[in-house]
Amino acid sequence: MTVKKCLFPVAGLGTRFLPVTKEIAKEMLPLVNRPIISYGVEEALASGCEEIIMITGRAKRSIENYFDRSFELEDLLLKRGKKELYDMMIKISNLAEILYIRQREPLGLGHAVLCGEPVCSSGYFGVILPDDVFINNDEPILSQLIKTHERLGGSVIALEQVELENVSRYGIVASEEVEPGIHRISDMVEKPSLSDAPSNYAIMGRYVLSPSIFPILREQQAGTGGEIQLTDALRTLAKSEPVWGVVYKGRRFDCGTQKGWLSANVQLALDDPELRNVVLEVVNGR
Ligand code: G1P
Repeated sequence: MTVKKCLFPVAGLGTRFLPVTKEIAKEMLPLVNRPIISYGVEEALASGCEEIIMITGRAKRSIENYFDRSFELEDLLLKRGKKELYDMMIKISNLAEILYIRQREPLGLGHAVLCGEPVCSSGYFGVILPDDVFINNDEPILSQLIKTHERLGGSVIALEQVELENVSRYGIVASEEVEPGIHRISDMVEKPSLSDAPSNYAIMGRYVLSPSIFPILREQQAGTGGEIQLTDALRTLAKSEPVWGVVYKGRRFDCGTQKGWLSANVQLALDDPELRNVVLEVVNGR
């Protein structure tokens, strides 16, 4: 019943951050001094996952390099007596067992998950969309989902209640609350108009998925935006297997948008004893 594998779709082009994403993977944009992707990977590991599967694309080599050894840099740091930085580099490259699978065509999130079938089909697995970054939580969001899976079985999705004017940015569920914060999902629709939204409970970027999702994804036709949508496949899955929604506890920053990314940077700086005053001085015009 445990979840040991976690899949990260990271092939997206990051057009909302152009021009910087012309050459830099959006997952490598910094939150202060760490790339966005490192938050998701650490969340997966802290939630008990042992194997990370990145669904990647041709412009994403920097992600592979980030989690790999860098002998030249390590050698230089040692020679210069920078032991702390050397240890930090070694720790990053030893963080996790990471597999990389290429998504050769940008056919959508559902297709990205389907690319993980060769390594994820033996049991339940986690999915983290690394744009959604959670900081300052008591418990990792994926861990909150895994605990629900261990207790109730079935697939689990992170939910958040959003403002009605924002429903068309997310997958939206129809559900019944079966215990405080836990919903049984009966239906869902990807990026509905306000009039078509079944509720204001939105899917956020954390999932525990049944391997039964793969045969459904193989047959899935393109949906919203002409892409193969994970939400559409989950909708089919919910008709034959339980799909739970967990209203997660924590604070989310949508680092796939400039506003969310900037807010996360400001929040992390405010949380840092040395950087806090820098932010306050700028804000106060000093
Ligand atoms: C994806 C999912 C959507 C979900 C969202 C959360 O959309 O398709 O259902 O609500 O992530 O961030 P995207 O943001 O990739 O368009």
